[in-house]
Amino acid sequence: MRVLGIETSCDETSAAVVTGTADEAAVESLVILSQDVHRIFGGVVPEIASRAHVTALVPIVERALSDAHVTREQVEAIAVTNGPGLVGALLVGVSFAKALAYALDIPFVGVHHMEGHLFATALEEPDAVPPFTALLVSGGHTLLLDVEAWGHYRQLGRTRDDAAGEAFDKVAKLLGLPYPGGPAIEQEARNDGAKGENGRYRFARPMLRRDQRPGDADYYDVSFSGLKTAVLNAVRETPAPLTPASRASIARAFQDALIETLVEKTARAVRHFKRERVVLGGGVAGNRTLVAAMRDRCEKLGARVFAPSVRLATDNAAMIARAGLFHLERGEQSALDLNAFASLPLADARGTII
Ligand code: KG4
Ligand code: ZN
Repeated sequence: MRVLGIETSCDETSAAVVTGTADEAAVESLVILSQDVHRIFGGVVPEIASRAHVTALVPIVERALSDAHVTREQVEAIAVTNGPGLVGALLVGVSFAKALAYALDIPFVGVHHMEGHLFATALEEPDAVPPFTALLVSGGHTLLLDVEAWGHYRQLGRTRDDAAGEAFDKVAKLLGLPYPGGPAIEQEARNDGAKGENGRYRFARPMLRRDQRPGDADYYDVSFSGLKTAVLNAVRETPAPLTPASRASIARAFQDALIETLVEKTARAVRHFKRERVVLGGGVAGNRTLVAAMRDRCEKLGARVFAPSVRLATDNAAMIARAGLFHLERGEQSALDLNAFASLPLADARGTII
């Protein structure tokens, strides 16, 4: 089946053509337009995001079709993100998908954005298929899942406050670094040794205690707001203006604490469920330091770690098309009254909300 994927949940307008099955799919084209305008404001402005999607979506879809050398009529189905995300931004993609599916008389299906992130790595790594332990880390979500099969998800842990990407973005702001904060902090952290304050700061690992046991409410959950406050205090206690060396050192200490927490919680799940694969997804999975630390830890437990490339870690329509393929293959499709939702629970194949 040839699916056109559409993603407009936040500040990327993206379209992709993907063909194949849920188990074996090929990306024929992928176009991603990042809305740089939000950099001026240091974060995503929802109204501006919606308007930018309206302007960009038609040319982006046309480009995805021409890159794949297909006409509109050769598209067999459409998959579109319908939540969670910015509701106005989502509505642009959802309305467009409905109109195009109606005009072409083809099926369309609404896809959960985080389920898309779950499928992203499999587009590049054929072995990144269930069963696996999944860590999804994006700007809005932090989810630790056990994935027995596509569609069979068990939520083990989540963030109690800020998502991992959100913590990167907020800490970047505190350190005077640009939005989005993740890549900027990763770069700063790399500078730490070179700038000579290596190891000057250290922050406590949030929600990570040796005496936690499976079944404890905080065994798999994470929390990053305390870590953010620790960074704020460190900045306040450091004489202004922050020197490049201090900035790099704080960035490194923050990233180390966050990464160790995510790695340890994931390792707990690998051990408990005896999984041999770990799949990472979401924008923060583009962080090579996180991926290297995860490999180091999980390979000792006998699990292979799969991470998407930076292009597929962040929001893109190829992952939405692939997750859509899975649902379409099962005969699922959406009706024209499909709505967009700012928050949307992820349901497993039996319809159970996880
Ligand atoms: O998945 P994504 O593109 O959008 C959402 O679904 O939210 O994730 C965006 C988030 C941002 O918070 C951004 O700072 C973070 O991913 N991010 C990173 C890196 N690249 C992007 N965080 C840490 N390190 C990175 N290299
Ligand atoms: Zn995302």
